[in-house]
Amino acid sequence: MKINILAIESSCDETSAAVISDGKILNNIIATQSVHEKYGGVVPELASRAHQQHLIPVIHEAIESSGISKNDLSAVAFTRGPGLMGALLVGVSFAKSFAYSLGIPLIEVNHMQAHILAHFIEDPKPKFPFICLTVSGGHTQLVLVKDHLVMEVIGETMDDAVGEAFDKTAKLLGLPYPGGPLIDKYAKEGNPKAFPFPVSDMPGLSYSFSGIKTAVLYFLRDQLKSNPNFIEENLTDLCASIQFTLIKMLMQKLKKAAAAHKINHIAIAGGVSANSGLRAELQLLAKKHGWSVYIPKFEYCTDNAAMIAMVGHYKYLKGEFCAMDVVPEARMKI
Ligand code: KG4
Ligand code: ZN
Repeated sequence: MKINILAIESSCDETSAAVISDGKILNNIIATQSVHEKYGGVVPELASRAHQQHLIPVIHEAIESSGISKNDLSAVAFTRGPGLMGALLVGVSFAKSFAYSLGIPLIEVNHMQAHILAHFIEDPKPKFPFICLTVSGGHTQLVLVKDHLVMEVIGETMDDAVGEAFDKTAKLLGLPYPGGPLIDKYAKEGNPKAFPFPVSDMPGLSYSFSGIKTAVLYFLRDQLKSNPNFIEENLTDLCASIQFTLIKMLMQKLKKAAAAHKINHIAIAGGVSANSGLRAELQLLAKKHGWSVYIPKFEYCTDNAAMIAMVGHYKYLKGEFCAMDVVPEARMKI
């Protein structure tokens, strides 16, 4: 009998379901919520309602296209946290009732652990131990990964996540949400040294990304006084300079972490790992320091249920199931 797991992700603004069979991902169905665009960020209540609308069609499609009958499912895995409480509740409630009705076990999944296990969906898979820089709209963490389910956070942001810094500075430039991919796009044609924004210097392996938002805000305010078209005329240079500064901060601590732990297997995960500047810089550092670098396919970088399914698979092998009275945890830690 094969181990077939249905996985559900609903922590933020992506409703997703996937089916995994004996460790092989069969599909990864994702419904993106466009409702947040006009608000310049994710509106939690709207996210919960959109999850309610999308969840059943998405799960239906995942089961149908997997070719596996729901009666042959071995377990249901779901994101327990971290994330938006109302959004998580939709996925958790569905997972519980579905598993209960089929008489199969439930597996709770930490979303941040799942971003890291996205590396085990396809080859080449990272060798243990490795360091994973997990960069998303909600988190920025350096994680020492010793085994599939044995991980230790060795550094993280003290305030904003790097994705938030991309999105908030993009908003100051008048770009729509999410601004990260747009900064990436315009940065390709700009000069990264045009505007030197400050690089935060936090102790140890800690990050801080709130300063750049204020620095960009004041810089633009001053420039716009003498030239109301400053942003339009300098958009590509502004994007390149912001991206350069954010990547510099990310890489400084990554280099420090790799040296301190004597590790040369380095991975990146999370939505911001789609950034082309970050990928290019990582390849450069890999050459310089002799690192083996692992970057997942774009589809598995942003929020998706395939990565939840991967954690589900490894937890199933260890018999790590959870009780029916499990509740979501908005601030769940690795
Ligand atoms: O992992 P993710 O899909 O969701 C969270 O768990 O937060 O990450 C979303 C974040 C957003 O902040 C988005 O702007 C950023 O990833 N992002 C990018 C790029 N693609 C997505 N940031 C910079 N460059 C990109 N190409
Ligand atoms: Zn995420």
